[in-house]
Amino acid sequence: MSGPGADVAEVRAWVRAARRLVVFTGAGVSAESGIPTFRDALTGLWARFDPEQLATEAAFRANPAMVWRWYAERRAAIARAQPNAAHRAIAALERGGARLAVVTQNIDGLHARAGSREVLELHGNIMRARCLEGCGDPERIDAKFDWRADPREPPPCPRCGSPLRPDVVWFGELLPQDVLARAQRAALRCDLMLVVGTSALVHPAAGLPMLAREAGARIVVVNPDRTPLDAVAAGVLRGAAGAVLPELFEKPG
Ligand code: OAD
Ligand code: ZN
Repeated sequence: MSGPGADVAEVRAWVRAARRLVVFTGAGVSAESGIPTFRDALTGLWARFDPEQLATEAAFRANPAMVWRWYAERRAAIARAQPNAAHRAIAALERGGARLAVVTQNIDGLHARAGSREVLELHGNIMRARCLEGCGDPERIDAKFDWRADPREPPPCPRCGSPLRPDVVWFGELLPQDVLARAQRAALRCDLMLVVGTSALVHPAAGLPMLAREAGARIVVVNPDRTPLDAVAAGVLRGAAGAVLPELFEKPG
């Protein structure tokens, strides 16, 4: 299971010794919950679209119904999905007392549903909507809001009547600056960062592991495939998050 560098036993010791730990996650941590990683998200009906044609403000303004329905279908799939062993292992580690922050690029909310408390969502959350014209705080969409009953057009903002949009970061948009600042602070202060299930290609999120490393933290990659961070990682654990993390975090015998 181990790639270059430290093996599971060594990384397990680093996890236990860490004063502050960051778990930085991407779509791979939700793969075992049945949620396609970002590139596969366009399966079936949407296979003919490119995410950049859907996940942009311009696409939403040009065709609000199409983009709203794409997100409604993803929301319905996510609502049916369950956190997997990886999400649960991370939440259990935090409950066990580790000084742990989860910094995620995912918009599925599964870390919080698994019980993680300190979760920084860099790219927003698909279960929240906000006013397209930015007139107020994000409206959390009530879970019983039935997307299928949802009219073709996105619902109107309760304050100003503009269309609501998903409260997620679209291509070309800035990340929520307060969340990014907290994630950068966590990266600078941690002594170990686990980079789980991300291709580490999309910035500024993908810059966080290097920030942590330059500040003296060890980086450990957990991924079945290679990533650009493998070369600078103190350890690479080649495997699925749902298999590796429970073993990595298990209490000493
Ligand atoms: P990607 O789809 O780019 O990468 C998913 C990563 O997860 C890959 O490196 C896979 O090898 C790995 N993987 C697959 N199955 C896994 C498993 N069971 N356990 C562990 N790892 C597994 O998704 P992200 O890196 O999250 O941005 O993409 C980052 C951002 O790019 C997304 O947040 C999205 C996209 O543009 C926005 O929406 C703003
Ligand atoms: Zn409004």
